[in-house]
Amino acid sequence: MIIAIDGPAASGKGTLARRIAAHYGLPHLDTGLLYRAVAARCLALGGLDDVGASEAAARTLDLATIDPEALRSAAMGEAASVVAARPGVRAALLDLQHRFAAQDKGAVLDGRDIGTVICPGADVKLFVTASPEVRAQRRFRELAARGAAVTFDDVLVDIRKRDERDSQRSAAPLVMADDAVALDTSNLGIEEAFAAAMAIVTERTSRLG
Ligand code: CDP
Repeated sequence: MIIAIDGPAASGKGTLARRIAAHYGLPHLDTGLLYRAVAARCLALGGLDDVGASEAAARTLDLATIDPEALRSAAMGEAASVVAARPGVRAALLDLQHRFAAQDKGAVLDGRDIGTVICPGADVKLFVTASPEVRAQRRFRELAARGAAVTFDDVLVDIRKRDERDSQRSAAPLVMADDAVALDTSNLGIEEAFAAAMAIVTERTSRLG
């Protein structure tokens, strides 16, 4: 069973993907981490401007060496969205994602283009949304809890900017797949959102027989 979960920044897709994967005992890949890791590599080598260097970083990315905790900052999210707009970077990460999705038991992948580009044949596709203000509030709380010196307004500006860049780019833009089911989590807590997501997944998988 392949479950594709897409949505904009801080929509709750990562939390849902983790919970759903744990529920079914499936491996989970947070594909945002791939772009964050590529961006981190570029920044360590001097900056984001060199397209060739970002493609090389994507080609040589090793999942085993990714440290999620080191990549969670707002600045890294922004840098990830810059390198993620490059077709060569996206192409270089295709194979790794396809291999992850092709595991025997299946997999849960979350990102921006899982249902549209990476796993168009996924058994279940969820498109998780929430208003920009709610998403900014969630992300602000997460970052503040980690001790980051950010304000709510900074986070809201960052989220709007990233939404625009991710939706407007020509390479695999953030867009809901035709056969995805939308889940708006603006007014849902984590448990409620998980229950709503599970209702969609069970309904879809029962139809598959
Ligand atoms: O956690 P959050 O939603 O803030 O970000 P993320 O999922 O870690 O993704 C960081 C950035 O990577 C996004 O803003 C996208 O530009 C890019 N990304 C992408 O282009 N395609 C994916 N499948 C996943 C992330």
